[in-house]
Formats: sequence, C-alpha cells, structure tokens
Amino acid sequence: MHDVIAKQAVAKSFSDAAQDYDAFARFQHHLAETLLALCPDDQKQQVLDLGCGTGYCLPLLSLRYPIANILGADLAPGMLAWAKQQHPEFSYALADAENLPFAHQQFDMIFSNLAVQWCDDFSQVLAQAFKCLKPGGHFVLSTLADGTLQELKQAWAKVDQHQHVNQFDSEDALQDMIATSGFQVEVCEVSTMVDYHPDVRSLTDSLKRIGAHNITDGRARGLTSPKSVKQFVQAIENHRQEQGLPASYRVLNCRLLKPL
Ligand SMILES: C[S@@+](CC[C@H](N)C(=O)[O-])C[C@H]1O[C@@H](n2cnc3c(N)ncnc32)[C@H](O)[C@@H]1O
Repeated sequence: MHDVIAKQAVAKSFSDAAQDYDAFARFQHHLAETLLALCPDDQKQQVLDLGCGTGYCLPLLSLRYPIANILGADLAPGMLAWAKQQHPEFSYALADAENLPFAHQQFDMIFSNLAVQWCDDFSQVLAQAFKCLKPGGHFVLSTLADGTLQELKQAWAKVDQHQHVNQFDSEDALQDMIATSGFQVEVCEVSTMVDYHPDVRSLTDSLKRIGAHNITDGRARGLTSPKSVKQFVQAIENHRQEQGLPASYRVLNCRLLKPL
C-alpha cells in the first residue's frame, strides 16, 4: 500500500505540469498507444477517459469509437483546463478515480492510461469503475507496479534515507486486488518498459515536467545539498547503458470485463 498521498499535492503537481506535459510525455504517449491496441473491438457508446490529463488519448479513442460520447475526467483542474483548450470538441469532468461522481452503470468503457498509480487504494479504483460500468462494459487500464524507477531508487539509497521515488504497489498486490474486484480478466500483462535519457538532468527534468516527481510523504523537504546531488549523479551513472541512462517502468496493462 502507498504512503498516504495528499490528493491536493497530486492535483497541483499535474496542474502545474499541464502546459509542458505533452512535449515531455513521448514515453507516456507510446504507452497510451499500446493500451489503445488492447481496447475491445465492439463499438462503445459512452466512454470515459479516467485521468485524461491533457486529453491526448481523447481523439485516439474517438477514432477507435466514432459513434461514442467521450468524456475526459481528471483530478487536476489545470490539466482539464488545458485539455479543454486543446480538444474543445470533448466533454470534461473534475473527478477523483477513488470517488467517481458518475451514475451507476453510466459507461460502456472506462479507459485509463497511467493515472491510477497516483491513488491510495487501487481496490477502491476498481470498485468505482465497476459501479460506473454497464454489465458487459470494459475497464481498460495501465498502471505502474513496484520496480518502477528502480534505478533512481537505488541511486538515492546510496545517498540518504529519504524516499525520493514514489511507492508503487507490487504486481502481486495489484493482481490480487483485480482477482477480487468482480471483473473478469480478459488481458493482464506486466512488462518492463525502459525510457533512456542522455543525462541526469534530462531524466529528472522529464519526471518533473510530466508532474511525476516524488509526492509521497517520506520525501525530503527543502533543497537537496550539492554534495547529495553529486553523490546521486555518481550513483545513477553506474546504471548507464549504451542507449543512455535508463528509467524503467513496470507497467501493468489490463482489459477487464464487467460480467453480464
Ligand atoms: C501521467 S498523466 C496521464 C495522462 C493521460 N492519461 C495520458 O495518457 O496522457 C496522469 C494523470 O492522472 C491524473 N490523476 C492522478 N490522480 C488521479 C485521481 N485520483 N483521479 C483522477 N485523475 C487522477 C493526473 O492529474 C494526470 O493528469
């Protein structure tokens, strides 16, 4: 289970990142396209993109489901404002995945790319999605498991005791929660995806620009000393590979069916 994550800190972090997000989210967009390929073939009428961020997936969902009403929902008001500007043809709602403000059985599909790992309790996200889906509806989601950003975690562990990287549930814990959610599992795949960066600044900057820097309770407050930064840089450089500095993501992609 995560440390308690302050919802407001998550919302602020992503709101602040909204305008720059797409320019730094090449990797996240690649994962979105992988997840879109998992979407069911039958046509859907009411589709929710949960944690829609800048709305990047909305036109892609619309191409896939041309007759659908597509709603983008997000916890971060700044993300929603930016998404509305970029894609005014869609509808939007401010919503927390752990407490969805939608009617029972409102949607035929809920799609969610790389959003629910910011929630405290994944089983609550599953329960809320289950409630808001019609029988026969699908929840298609990607989330992150423990092992994500392990290079950063290991490098910081050589410097101090603070928690510099967000905590993620283990794969087993995520799969156990899915198994008891009431959903039928059509697809559940876990894979390691690696994003390479030319240098440390590019790696840490990109996390910050997409709002994914550390927002957990154990984080160090205040500025990190130059000495600690130097130690961190030395430690992370030990992970360098031919393609650059790796940032690994342990990604769980699922297509879940609410039984009839
Ligand atoms: C990494 S971005 C992904 C955005 C989008 N799905 C994409 O693929 O481009 C994560 C998004 O999840 C949103 N988010 C985080 N916690 C959330 C929650 N509890 N409920 C709804 N959205 C949330 C953030 O505000 C952010 O916009």
